Amino acid sequence: MSESKPAVLRLDRLLANMGYGSRREVQGLVRAGAVTLDGAVVGDADMKLAITPALSERMRVQGAPLDPPPGFVILLHKPLGVTCSHKDTGPLVYSLLPPRWRSREPAVSTVGRLDKETSGLLLLTDDGDLLHRIISPRKKVSKRYRATLARPLNGEEDALFAGGELLLEGDDKPVAPAVLEPLGEREAWLTVTEGRYHLVRRMFAAVGNHVEALHRDRIGALDLPDDLEPGRLRRLTDADVARIFA
Ligand code: URA
Repeated sequence: MSESKPAVLRLDRLLANMGYGSRREVQGLVRAGAVTLDGAVVGDADMKLAITPALSERMRVQGAPLDPPPGFVILLHKPLGVTCSHKDTGPLVYSLLPPRWRSREPAVSTVGRLDKETSGLLLLTDDGDLLHRIISPRKKVSKRYRATLARPLNGEEDALFAGGELLLEGDDKPVAPAVLEPLGEREAWLTVTEGRYHLVRRMFAAVGNHVEALHRDRIGALDLPDDLEPGRLRRLTDADVARIFA
């Protein structure tokens, strides 16, 4: 996803970093004729390759298209009940990824987190620079949540949330201005630009309400696709990634 010149890696290093096995095992795959590039068997595990997204169409390993090359971003429809952590007990979002992706180097990480009981749009990437750009408070990337509330809205929340002066318990800085769009008596979209712990739940708690259900459907101008079922993922194109910052 970076716009600079593509990195160049030896084939055995590339495939080992992508979780296809140790370098020795990858050399074995190449010797066995299991790796092809543009339809021709690759004979040399030392060959140097420019890492571009097109490699996943050009290269096959044991007959299957190559996994996404380094520098990729995926969008996951996070289901309820899974945790955005590498080490928590209980189901983890990482268990929803293809098993080989769990041994990639650099590792695939979530871009920020959603609570265990929040569903919706979650990004994952192996591109550390991009990850930091998305979560950096300076970039003010917006995140939209649909909140279902225990009690009716009282009509004062939008001014309070938009004012930029709401100080949450335990925090030393007020919440950056956020936009509330009521959808019903007990339902609203809330768009925030920060990624603080339990932010949306704590904002509604600060006005005497309680979030019963929370779902994120948009980051920047990138929407969770309607046809993507919970637990399913989709690889983003460069144009999709640009939408995050739009
Ligand atoms: N705010 C919350 O309270 N929870 C989330 O998962 C995301 C934002």
